[in-house]
Amino acid sequence: MHQLPPLHDAPAFQALQRHYTDASQWHLRTLFSGHPDRFTQFSLEAAGLFLDYSKNRMDGTTLSLLMELARERHVIKHRDAMFAGEKINSTEQRAVLHTALRAPRGATVIVNGQNVVPEVHAVLDHLGEFTERVRSGKWLGRSGKPMTDIVNIGIGGSDLGPEMVCRALRTHAQPGLNLHFVANVDGHDLVAVLARVQPETTLFVIASKTFTTRETMMNAQSARAWFLQTGKETDLARHFVAVSTNAKAVSEFGIDTDNMFPFWDWVGGRYSVWSAIGLPVALAIGIDGFQEFLAGAHAMDKHFRTAPLERNMPVILGMLGVWYRNFFQCGSISIAPYHQDLAQFPAYLQQLDMESNGKQVTMAGKSVGADTGPVVWGDVGTNGQHAYFQLLHQGTTMIPVDFIAALQPTHALPSHHAVLLANCFAQSEALMRGKDADEVRKELQDQGLPEDQINALLMHKVFPGNRPSNTILMEKLTPAALGALIALYEHKVFVQGVVWGINSFDQWGVELGKVLAKNIEPEINGAPRPDLHDSSTNGLIARAKAALSD
Ligand code: F6P
Repeated sequence: MHQLPPLHDAPAFQALQRHYTDASQWHLRTLFSGHPDRFTQFSLEAAGLFLDYSKNRMDGTTLSLLMELARERHVIKHRDAMFAGEKINSTEQRAVLHTALRAPRGATVIVNGQNVVPEVHAVLDHLGEFTERVRSGKWLGRSGKPMTDIVNIGIGGSDLGPEMVCRALRTHAQPGLNLHFVANVDGHDLVAVLARVQPETTLFVIASKTFTTRETMMNAQSARAWFLQTGKETDLARHFVAVSTNAKAVSEFGIDTDNMFPFWDWVGGRYSVWSAIGLPVALAIGIDGFQEFLAGAHAMDKHFRTAPLERNMPVILGMLGVWYRNFFQCGSISIAPYHQDLAQFPAYLQQLDMESNGKQVTMAGKSVGADTGPVVWGDVGTNGQHAYFQLLHQGTTMIPVDFIAALQPTHALPSHHAVLLANCFAQSEALMRGKDADEVRKELQDQGLPEDQINALLMHKVFPGNRPSNTILMEKLTPAALGALIALYEHKVFVQGVVWGINSFDQWGVELGKVLAKNIEPEINGAPRPDLHDSSTNGLIARAKAALSD
């Protein structure tokens, strides 16, 4: 792959820097009043999603320059390399092929000289067979009863994806099959779930790409011990299945490898919901629903692969993100799904974006010399409006927002949805247009307030506006629409990683804490090693030791 020169040296970056001097002075209100067709010009549809990006601080020239930058940074070449199975995860020497997990049966994707698509579909078939047995009540537990509860034990990508998707598609789920997710090594997590389930009707899914993650292994061992309090070793096979790339560790744990659903090292943890890690999703919505979810993502892959950059949804979102990060110096972006079922989408995107692009060196190991991934955060609308939206409107920091909504609800309550959508659209309008001092003065005068009170209140009621947002709409929150939405963000993150010249597919930054925890653990339970730590860490260990030995 191309070793890119520093971002600041790219001619398009420098042209954007000059353009920014002007563009940073524009107000969105003026951009809208000067161009009545702005919405038509800056919106597009792909894979069942509609994107309105007209409320961004840019014009046609900005967009052309951003696309020029994408070209100079070889986004197209890198995109094609990813789809072709080249080992673009250079620090781990791995291909990056979550897109192959949603490729149709007849497709060809070659990894190490082999077409991986038949293998992908063989696992999907196995998944289909297994999940249908559980859903139909044919998979029986140790006392001959069908399963009522599924407990997924996994963390990071082995938890966030399936949990978020199961929550998002809960109205499509089979009633009577309860899903639970345990991620945290904090025993409160597992204990709370075990209190709600019965061993003879519970199926544990131990989900871990590596099958070495401390949290997951500990929770799995404790779940196993809990099960064996009332069951026999020979019953384990009916109640424990695994999803992993590590067959050896699965079998050492005591799970029959016939009950293991494999995936591959070319699937990153945070990109794994499309693999057998999606088992809870297939259990909840059925294999046909899961296939629709994959097909939605595949439609977005096709769009990303074929649409010209100027009409390419992930590229547009990605490059606008670069515009805000590297020129406006925005340190964070907020995700505002106006859909209760997408409550976990911001947390899911946190891992996707921050674990991918929270990097400081280029592929060549040199300092990036530019800002990379932003902080990603958010919560559902309208809840956020009554909490942190104050800061979005009147705080001193500009935080671009992505609004996400479905035009139709999946419930039948009258009136709610119009109120929800009205709020969603009103927020982006308010952020964009604001309210200036003249408008506030007039409003207060109309209310009959005396001049001294008007003057005291005036500046508190001014909204600067000019705060950017995207709005992503889908018809309904279906498996296909959700698949397309996740794939849209995956590719957006990819585009940005390419522009910054970083490896979006490793995560070395999570390692140091894991290693240090391994040192500290025996000290809390046994002899302290003050020579290993600073006074703060020693002091904390001593307090924990004292409390736990009481
Ligand atoms: O520690 C980070 C991480 O490696 C994530 O990238 C991954 O999704 C998570 O841990 C869980 O890993 P595993 O699926 O191997 O248990």
